[in-house]
Amino acid sequence: MIETKKKVCLRTFGCQMNAYDSKRMAGMLAEMGYAQVAEPEAADLIVLNTCSVRRLAEEKVYSYVGELKRLKREKPWLLIGVGGCVAQQEGDKLLRRLPHLDFVFGPDALNRLPELVTQAAKGKRQALTKLGPPSAPAQIIVPAEPGLRAMVTVMTGCDNFCSYCVVPYVRGRERSRPAGEVLEEVAALVAAGAREITLLGQNVNSYRDPDGGLDFAGLLGRVNDVPELWRIRFTTSHPKDLSPSLIEAMAGLEKVMEQMHLPAQSGSNRMLKAMNRGYTRERYLEQVNLLRQKVPSVALGSDIIVGFPGETRQDFEESLSLLREVRYDFLYSFKYSDRPFTKAGRLENQLEEEVKSERLVELQALQREIGLAEHQAQAGKLEEVLVEGPARHGEGLMSGRTRAGRVVNFPGTPELAESLVMVRITEGRENSLAGELLPAPGAISA
Ligand code: SAH
Ligand code: SF4
Ligand code: F3S
Repeated sequence: MIETKKKVCLRTFGCQMNAYDSKRMAGMLAEMGYAQVAEPEAADLIVLNTCSVRRLAEEKVYSYVGELKRLKREKPWLLIGVGGCVAQQEGDKLLRRLPHLDFVFGPDALNRLPELVTQAAKGKRQALTKLGPPSAPAQIIVPAEPGLRAMVTVMTGCDNFCSYCVVPYVRGRERSRPAGEVLEEVAALVAAGAREITLLGQNVNSYRDPDGGLDFAGLLGRVNDVPELWRIRFTTSHPKDLSPSLIEAMAGLEKVMEQMHLPAQSGSNRMLKAMNRGYTRERYLEQVNLLRQKVPSVALGSDIIVGFPGETRQDFEESLSLLREVRYDFLYSFKYSDRPFTKAGRLENQLEEEVKSERLVELQALQREIGLAEHQAQAGKLEEVLVEGPARHGEGLMSGRTRAGRVVNFPGTPELAESLVMVRITEGRENSLAGELLPAPGAISA
């Protein structure tokens, strides 16, 4: 007899925190007997983990679920659920607007997914969107094969209320996970084969262990002691709370990689104030200088929003000049989009879409130039590279990342995968580096 297993198609949108939550969902669904499939057509259950940070992302959810109506008509037993930040934001409204949707659950109801699926199968349509302490204590769910690079959320929510941002409304108040639980999860991932861990939070710098008061620098120290773990990264750092102790931790802890995502959002003090970011351009630059002084090889990343309400050409030029001054290695840039609940969404002086688009194109062109020059400046350097696997393009090439997080492709054989090697950088390209393998006696194999 052919064994039939139930199949789930789990689609994830948004940030790394959603990617992490999706891994937890996949774990819970696997325990219920669901195997994962890539195509919604093959599934008995479709779960979307959604993002509402920009309007377009939210609209996509409605149109995507809308398209699933056809599938549900063909397979009436198909169950469809929406989780994540759009679920939190829209709640019951999603069930009303999409009659073929079975259940809705916000980020804090994630642990109740099995119960939601079981009840939906019995015909109960419901939306669980209460924010507050998570619905059940977080279990540590570790995939059997987490991969070489894994993530661990150390805190959820956000208390910063930047005036443009929906996250504090859809993720609720900031809560740190106990350090003991974080360490247990890191150790379990490492035991299952992970060698690099990225610690996640909207603002990791304000981490506080609820059981002992350890701050984020202290937590890094503890994670650094986990045997068999090679590399630690973290994201995101809020510039207003970047502490000297965190900079010291990056400088002093061998396993903490020299990479920092420090979103500036704008280079104009007027805009930073209107955004409620809690720092000035000058203060931001001081932080960058201190960081570069202590960790000279650090690669810096940032997020910039163009076209915030009331942004003048002059304000925008200050963002361009910030890029020239800092010279980021990587940059995510976005057109401002108004979000529900937020203060900026209620401002009068919204910019025309066309102006926002032009500014985005201009900013991105400048960043391409800077990024390329920064990459070219790496030529000749010797870098420790964690090899991930064969390069996506190019016969006989392997691909990995430097300590600073830059992608390097170099001629090599597949057995190098999952090992640390030394590579000499030969060329810098727009999105990656090219290099050649050094026959390092100290190379470690996984
Ligand atoms: N906690 C992180 C960012 C999380 S959201 C931080 O404070 O830096 C990721 C990025 O989305 C933000 O950094 C911001 O650049 C962008 N973003 C958030 N709200 C936005 C909005 N309303 N319009 C456009 N971009 C937005
Ligand atoms: Fe949003 Fe600001 Fe919180 Fe980041 S720090 S998630 S931008 S409110
Ligand atoms: Fe998006 Fe929610 Fe993350 S709004 S950016 S998925 S916290």
